Amino acid sequence: MANYQWYPGHMTKAKRMMQEDIKLVDVVIELVDARAPLSSRNPDIDELGKNKSRIILLNKSDLADPIKNKAWMTYFADRGSHVLEINAKTGSGVKSIQGVVQEACREKIERDRRRGILNRPVRAMVVGIPNVGKSTFINSFAGRACAKTGNKPGVTKGKQWIRLNKGLELLDTPGILWPKFEDQTVGLHLAMIGSINDEIMHLDELAYDLIRFLRGEYPGFLEKRYDIEIPGEQDAYDTIKSVCVSKKCYLKGEKLDIMKASSMIVDDFRNGKIGRITLEIPG
Ligand code: G4P
Repeated sequence: MANYQWYPGHMTKAKRMMQEDIKLVDVVIELVDARAPLSSRNPDIDELGKNKSRIILLNKSDLADPIKNKAWMTYFADRGSHVLEINAKTGSGVKSIQGVVQEACREKIERDRRRGILNRPVRAMVVGIPNVGKSTFINSFAGRACAKTGNKPGVTKGKQWIRLNKGLELLDTPGILWPKFEDQTVGLHLAMIGSINDEIMHLDELAYDLIRFLRGEYPGFLEKRYDIEIPGEQDAYDTIKSVCVSKKCYLKGEKLDIMKASSMIVDDFRNGKIGRITLEIPG
């Protein structure tokens, strides 16, 4: 579900659904995109998820800079969150989550035990902005072996719980959070990772900003990917032109196809072909 357009009505509806669903769970598993962990969060989740155990998953960690993944783990852990680095697509890191859920819900489990309530499963839901990998994660976390528990009395009709084991149940539909567009950098980073509609920014502008960032933070990556040379003071627009020549992006009459090269650069970044890159650093 890439490229989502948000209107105030969507946000109100998403928020209302989230408020309802969150009441049903003990722990909120929040996915963020490891390439832009701050921009891909929505601060409203802190308010919505207060009084709940919280786990943050740095998803798409395979596309992000491994050193920065570690830095982000420390950042979130220092702020009291349980946090894990995962790749929902391959399932890497996903196995460790069950243990972390138990850890995050230890107080609740102890409280239940003191009250004589034994074997009540912990209930969890997955939340995140569009395209962070919520559905992919639910599939890989629940796997094929899972059993749906069906509707339960007292639970809104239609809610399905996936029983992962006797100690853990997961709501089968994720909570969709809306991005916070107001901040320009947030909008730019979300566009770069492909979480918001491309039409919000022109592809050539996106490629231009991406090139400027990569040249500063990941020198040599573009040169290697596109087999080009980038003189020190070169304008990013001229770098796009070099990519056009190197990758033979031409329009009729040998005119350079700037849009084609721009789209290639943005896609290559999104698919990790330029390298493992993180747009944001903690701090
Ligand atoms: P959502 O429910 O939060 O909206 O996200 P969804 O699971 O649909 O995932 C969005 C895209 O991100 C999908 O790619 C999915 O395969 C990819 N994805 C999810 N988790 C990871 C991860 O950890 N690493 C990588 N590299 N990609 C991940 P898509 O382009 O929509 O489909 P496809 O390319 O998989 O066919």
